[in-house]
Amino acid sequence: MGLFITIEGGEGSGKSTLISKLYNHLALVEKREVVKTFEPGATPLGKSIRELLLNQEEAVITPKAELLLFLADRAHHIETVIRPALKEGKIVLCDRFTDSSRAYQGARGGIAGLEDLCSLASNHLTPDLTFFLDVDPVIGLSRLARKKDRLEKEKIDFHQKVRQEYLRLAEKEPDRFVILNAMHSPEELFEAALGKVKHELFRASAL
Ligand code: TMP
Repeated sequence: MGLFITIEGGEGSGKSTLISKLYNHLALVEKREVVKTFEPGATPLGKSIRELLLNQEEAVITPKAELLLFLADRAHHIETVIRPALKEGKIVLCDRFTDSSRAYQGARGGIAGLEDLCSLASNHLTPDLTFFLDVDPVIGLSRLARKKDRLEKEKIDFHQKVRQEYLRLAEKEPDRFVILNAMHSPEELFEAALGKVKHELFRASAL
């Protein structure tokens, strides 16, 4: 089996920069087999789901429907991209995964059975390592230069709740989660994350 690494965080937390740096180092410098992917929207089906979820100007989506759409994207993504790559022994770097559903749809509140539905979609696939880029949402949102999508347009209270959900999840699973202070420079974040990835690769090779 390969190594499954996810990168999580609120809006404008710098996930894409960190993933690119990790990918460039692991794939291009170390010449390892790495797949860089993301949710939602990494497959042809997922692309349409992403469009429905984020880019429909007038969209009204109930919380449960929203969750199920993210989960449909994930179920398909796992079966067609993530599992095959892991089976081939590759490192998979995924921008968002189940913790995003837990944090964002969890922040909506009141969705009964959220955890069970997440497990159904992921078939209990859990990342080996998860980086959470932690930033005050006021600062994160101020970093966004482009037009905001449906979730980015949510009130600041929602984004604060998402951050609290992430911190709660990280506290519950300290062995899997690494919290990174997203106020640090991209280079510092990369060095810290790479150290953890190398440790995980070493641990996996010793098993
Ligand atoms: P992105 O802009 O980082 O690609 O993320 C897309 C948006 O979708 C972001 O606002 C977080 C949100 N999201 C959820 O609410 N639940 C999920 O399960 C996932 C994967 C993303």
